[in-house]
Amino acid sequence: MVSWSFTTSRVVVVLLGLLSLFQPVTSIRLGLVRLPSSDLPLFREAPAFRNGEECGSTDADRINVAMTLDANYLRGTMAAVLSMLQHSTCPENLAFYFLSAHDAPELFSSIKSTFPYLNMTIYHFNSDRVRGKISKSIRQALDQPLNYARIYLADTIPENVKRVIYLDSDLVVVDDIAKLWGVDMEGKIVAAPEYCHANFTLYFTKDFWSDPTLAKTFDGRKPCYFNTDNSITHVERASLCRSFPTSARPEQHIPCTPAE
Ligand SMILES: *[C@@H]1O[C@H](CO)[C@@H](O)[C@H](O)[C@H]1NC(C)=O
Ligand SMILES: *[C@@H]1O[C@H](CO)[C@@H](O)[C@H](O)[C@H]1NC(C)=O
Repeated sequence: MVSWSFTTSRVVVVLLGLLSLFQPVTSIRLGLVRLPSSDLPLFREAPAFRNGEECGSTDADRINVAMTLDANYLRGTMAAVLSMLQHSTCPENLAFYFLSAHDAPELFSSIKSTFPYLNMTIYHFNSDRVRGKISKSIRQALDQPLNYARIYLADTIPENVKRVIYLDSDLVVVDDIAKLWGVDMEGKIVAAPEYCHANFTLYFTKDFWSDPTLAKTFDGRKPCYFNTDNSITHVERASLCRSFPTSARPEQHIPCTPAE
């Protein structure tokens, strides 16, 4: 029988038996005392995930994963990390780069105490970089500066990290992340899944659709877009184009096209 326990400097949690690994504090009524100084949910410590025998241990075997770290989505981040470790043949080869908009030691201790064996570093993303560049969107979550941190990955994480997978913190990985890592970039700097089942009606305002010229934008075209919730970036090349577009004007893409 496995029993879990975890401690952080300010929190003591006792045995939670085999309840699911992730438990928001509001639903825990037994044996848990928590100081009111933090609103973060609490998580039990995950076990150590070990490499399979076939795993290498050189730098070339490392799989770099970048995610944002934010108090609001912490539960999602925890679930995503756990899902990657669980499905990975070589979990010890995963290196995590968390981007945080705030100096948040409690986030660090939360993730550290939940995954004590995780190879991870937290990087500060300066929200000023996107200030004034975010247009109001229909989804409030998209208005958050940290949502655009992925665009600045190349400037944020160390230069010796040449390639990274970016994942949003609202997904669960159901297969070995190494498969995604193995995707052939075909010389491109960014790869992302194409999504062609979008219904754009609600993506644009009534004003947009009532303008005859604008409304024709999608006439006879397949409404596809790149879902950057999940993308692979070649950092070395991406850093050649530091002004990677936030507003997707085609001419701004040009400096980012790798010269092959
Ligand atoms: C953690 O990952 C970095 C690369 O991001 C690597 O240089 C370092 O050796 C790794 N540490 C461990 C303990 O595997
Ligand atoms: C797209 O969404 C709108 C509004 O939700 C709906 O009226 C319309 O039927 C949808 N179109 C398709 C092709 O599903």
